[in-house]
Amino acid sequence: MTKRLYIETVGCQMNVLDSELLTAGLLEAGYELVDSPHHADTVLFNTCSVRQHAEDKVYSALGRLREWKERNPAMIVGVLGCMAQKDQGQIFRRASHVDLVVGPGQLSRLPSLLCAVAADGQPRLEVSLDRAGGGRGSVAESFAHFDPPRTARRRAVSQQAMVRIMFGCDKFCTYCIVPRVRGPEQSRTAAEIEQEVRHLADQGCLEVTLLGQTVNSYKDTSEGRTVRLADLLERLNAVAGLRRLKFVTNYPRHMTRELLEAVRDLPKVSPYLHVPAQSGSNAVLERMKRGYTVESYRAMMEQIRELLPGAAVTSDFIVGFCGETEADFQQTAELVRWGRFKNSFIFKYSPRPATKAFEIYPDDVPEEVKRRRNHELLAIQDAISLEDNQPYQNREVEILVEGPSKSARKQAAGGELVQLVGRTPCDRIVVLDGPRGLTGRLLRVIIDKVDAFTLYGRLPDGPPMA
Ligand code: SAH
Ligand code: SF4
Ligand code: F3S
Repeated sequence: MTKRLYIETVGCQMNVLDSELLTAGLLEAGYELVDSPHHADTVLFNTCSVRQHAEDKVYSALGRLREWKERNPAMIVGVLGCMAQKDQGQIFRRASHVDLVVGPGQLSRLPSLLCAVAADGQPRLEVSLDRAGGGRGSVAESFAHFDPPRTARRRAVSQQAMVRIMFGCDKFCTYCIVPRVRGPEQSRTAAEIEQEVRHLADQGCLEVTLLGQTVNSYKDTSEGRTVRLADLLERLNAVAGLRRLKFVTNYPRHMTRELLEAVRDLPKVSPYLHVPAQSGSNAVLERMKRGYTVESYRAMMEQIRELLPGAAVTSDFIVGFCGETEADFQQTAELVRWGRFKNSFIFKYSPRPATKAFEIYPDDVPEEVKRRRNHELLAIQDAISLEDNQPYQNREVEILVEGPSKSARKQAAGGELVQLVGRTPCDRIVVLDGPRGLTGRLLRVIIDKVDAFTLYGRLPDGPPMA
């Protein structure tokens, strides 16, 4: 009998990749993918713990399933990923209809765990050691690699792929749960990554995004010398068939001149750098334990501007972190104005149990102040994003077409023109009308119109937009 799988994913690109790899494996094992939990006999949530909101979303989705599960007791409900590692057995207590809790370091065991639950109906909990639960070696080992062989079957666009080059994090920023739920920083070997990228390119993949929580601290010593991200990019730049290379997320302190020169000199590496600043106040950065000052962040930005004048730089900011005064916030606003980021992701601080900040600093910025600062910073950033996009008007850009836009996907399939979405090398989103068959192609398009978030383009032989 075919088993029907429904999977929902919350969180960062690491999770999107994990879900893609898990789904591909389960399809190989005979599962079929369905688009509603009510059509499924296996329902999986791949979860995130970075902010309270991400967890609430999963707990309410679980709550909505309770009654359905009571009526369909053979259905298996699984909670995977970061929240599984963080909440462990508490998940069964909050949602007693959950059958399976599997941390990010145990994902390779998912198929056999599903079989075990199906066989005896007993719940299973598989998680890694806590960060303080053993020596570094044994903790790292308990966060097992999950990078099975790739197939094009589960990627939304087979010409585009994410490749993990490292996982875990050792930075322990005081607000952040990631080092606890993803374990110690571990880099994959360059040889393994190169092989995976060659394999993807042989399958027709044109664009690869390398993933790591602090991707630019990548370090492989397995070949008797140290291979850094700059060296890895050089090796991957030589892979035949591959056209674009991107990498996220960068940690400001590891943004070396050598890496920036590699981005400048290697033709396939996109001029796009995501380097979160988090705050523009030294007092706040210190409490966050980010390990740099505003001055050193600015010096890094100046080096980027000098070596890569056209590069798109993007950032993340947290507003309302413990003890953030209005003056601190204004310094952040000042950094956003000065930095002229292509765009910034702005988050309200969300206290995470088991982090340093949660233990030692009160969450003392009221919710309405967090909200106001969030809006204020967004308004500043949006105005900059619009100005930054303006020069693209009437310009020709190269895009990789990622497929029909969300609204076009709902329309009936057919040969007619639909709204397509694509991305430039500097990660700008372009929408245009064209046949669905262009999905996965690299094209040159002409930009007619821009706003803060999107460039509106057309094929060179298409009619100009009104
Ligand atoms: N490894 C990346 C980011 C990981 S989490 C880095 O170091 O930059 C993605 C973003 O979520 C972070 O950059 C931060 O801005 C935000 N974030 C992390 N923990 C948070 C928390 N407790 N509350 C609000 N935002 C948070
Ligand atoms: Fe979290 Fe800091 Fe690690 Fe990024 S570098 S994942 S913000 S601890
Ligand atoms: Fe969330 Fe885990 Fe990513 S906590 S941000 S899904 S690493």
